[in-house]
Amino acid sequence: MEIQSIIKQMTLEEKAALCIGASAWSTTPVERLGVPEMIVSDGPHGVRRVPNIHEMASESLPATCFPTASCLASTWDVDLIGKMGQALAEECIALNVDVVLGPGANMKRSPLGGRNFEYFSEDPYLAGEMAANFINGVQSKGVGTSLKHYAANNQEFQRFSINAEVDERTLREIYLTAFEKAVKQAQPWTVMCAYNKVNGTFASEHYNLLTEILKDEWGFEGLVVSDWGAVRDRVAALKGGLDWEMPGPQERRVQEVVTAVQSGKLDEAILNESVRRILRIVSKAAQTPKGGEFDVEAHHELANHIAAEGMILLKNNGLLPLKNQEHIAVIGRSAEKAHFQGGGSSHINPTKVAVPFKELQARAGNAELTYAEGYPTDDSFRQDMIDEAVTLAKAADVAVLYIALPTFKESEGYDRKDLDLTDQQVALITAVSAIQPNTVVVLNNGAPVAMSAWIDNVAAVLEGWMMGQAGGAAIADVLFGKVNPSGKLAETFPLKLADMPAYLNWPGGAGAVRYGEGLFIGYRYYDAKEMPVQFPFGYGLSYTTFTYSNPQVSATTFKDMDGVTVTVDVTNTGDVAGKEIVQVYVHDKVSGLVRPYKELKGFAKVALEPGQAKTVSIPLDFRAFAYYHPEYGQWITENGEFDLLIGASSADIRHTVTVTLESTLDLPCILDKESTIREWMADPRGQVVFGPFYAMMESEARKMFGGGDERYGNEGAIGMDIMEMFNDMPLVSVLMFQANALPMHPEDMVAGLLQQVHKA
Ligand code: BGC
Repeated sequence: MEIQSIIKQMTLEEKAALCIGASAWSTTPVERLGVPEMIVSDGPHGVRRVPNIHEMASESLPATCFPTASCLASTWDVDLIGKMGQALAEECIALNVDVVLGPGANMKRSPLGGRNFEYFSEDPYLAGEMAANFINGVQSKGVGTSLKHYAANNQEFQRFSINAEVDERTLREIYLTAFEKAVKQAQPWTVMCAYNKVNGTFASEHYNLLTEILKDEWGFEGLVVSDWGAVRDRVAALKGGLDWEMPGPQERRVQEVVTAVQSGKLDEAILNESVRRILRIVSKAAQTPKGGEFDVEAHHELANHIAAEGMILLKNNGLLPLKNQEHIAVIGRSAEKAHFQGGGSSHINPTKVAVPFKELQARAGNAELTYAEGYPTDDSFRQDMIDEAVTLAKAADVAVLYIALPTFKESEGYDRKDLDLTDQQVALITAVSAIQPNTVVVLNNGAPVAMSAWIDNVAAVLEGWMMGQAGGAAIADVLFGKVNPSGKLAETFPLKLADMPAYLNWPGGAGAVRYGEGLFIGYRYYDAKEMPVQFPFGYGLSYTTFTYSNPQVSATTFKDMDGVTVTVDVTNTGDVAGKEIVQVYVHDKVSGLVRPYKELKGFAKVALEPGQAKTVSIPLDFRAFAYYHPEYGQWITENGEFDLLIGASSADIRHTVTVTLESTLDLPCILDKESTIREWMADPRGQVVFGPFYAMMESEARKMFGGGDERYGNEGAIGMDIMEMFNDMPLVSVLMFQANALPMHPEDMVAGLLQQVHKA
């Protein structure tokens, strides 16, 4: 397809129509010019291909339901998520889908986010790595992706309209970073804008986000698609950088664009640019022939493998792995009816489902398995079900409780109201564990649940997540030790709701939600507040143990642009093979602006046989040390020492290595009329021109306020150290107090100094 020549031949109506869907899931073809339609489908952890593309949500064609993002991120396995991406692409090809709508790279600002199961992490580095590898996997097979929902779409409450009020630095360092990584490392074919507003402007019309940052700064080459129904003003959206509106068709929108161009309200060049981007992706998509079949069994196996890698053993008093049990009481309806995915647009019609109870039975040898439902589908309280479960548990050697958070408590479209399981589930766990010390709780949920009420009384807890269609088998493999669990938390499990960082600013009201906790989400917050949590970010148990030794760095002093590489030896000191996830966090010892105590900047997953040791190597680049400075409007590094914290979790740091960074940045001078004395002295150019006057100014100030007088000392006549106050006042304001002692007016003096620093 010769894109420029096609654009030249297209009528204004054809261009406007191309910029909106022809159906719920397809682009508008231009048959006379040989431009085919392109079909998209949800996403992200399976292909939700509806048979009729004019329907939004009819039963979709069978496809593999892989584990959801919470589980995927808990694998910390970038190669594995790449393989899943490839499998997804194969299913897209078989089901005639050109672009799969995912992955989701939004941050888990609060554990209450109804859609957290579709997102990877509370940490932007980890989420970005996962998203990039997902995209690369899918796109390596000639199928596109849609990185979503850009940006600051972190809650379901009023998600179509709420205004996310988030400061620039927080946006850059927390909410945009995963998108930036994914765009730069993987170039998704499409990016989907969010429904909500960001700082007063709809994400669908946001010139700064869509054009200046995404396209111009990050170099995004694909097309921007609206979330379904996100566009309010079509013309404003085109101007903002939103190329393709979905769903369609909407003739009225086409006419709005035509009229806007005709009346001069919209420059046709802007429309042409969107048309160019859409045609480019449509043409890419057309190069991958569709049809054929995918390998149902192989993909089910892959889903099983991923689920097993993503499950997290949260507690184990030694009961697991199960061995030689004669009678296992299996309790909880999710043992019979697997809860393996979330509700909403990502809901997949699975090719087959591993039933947890049957999978357990298949591995239990001669042990007798009994079953009780334990809790109902709804919110009612059923003591009779608890009594039945207790009777069963009493007679067994071990009780395995399958506890799934019901969909009325967790789904796309609405947020959770609390972190709790249902009252019935809590009562069930409490009653069973009271009579059966060997109680194992297997959780199926997409986000953290509170456990304080019951965790001390149970022997083991396995976080099984929304584990995909094969997860029932993965649970059984982990319980019996066929698989040694190796997942680690990609998000903190708080002790209670009121502990969460966004607690006082959630979920907002009067049309707005204020991101008042700023940079401090997830472990960044709990670190800063020195708060205990139920389970920290990066945590997870294994059936074996690992030691870390011989930490090294490639250089103790390095230039920011060169980065530095950390190595550490990890040894499996237990009796079974296992995998360890080594994490590197960076702590800036002194910084100009406040920074989180530590931030994840690298990780590696390593497989080790018993007794085996391997050297793990983790490179850290410029961005591992930089922070976004809103006054410079860029990422900056500062000279000085950084601690590199090598850990098994965010709360289990095994080694610390200190390195010294030399910044190569030549930052512009940002001193202005309002700059404080401290800012003048901190700026290298400021110090040169103002530094010589500082001592004079100080002695003048002390004189004026009686400081230095032997009666008062540095405290001065009014009982304060005046320089403590002056240092954080604008230079001009301090000089105003000394105007009589100055050879010229303070304003002229500061203007003169500014001239000197800015010409330098
Ligand atoms: C969701 C998107 C999804 C789209 C199409 C929207 O409501 O937010 O994630 O891709 O619907 O189903």
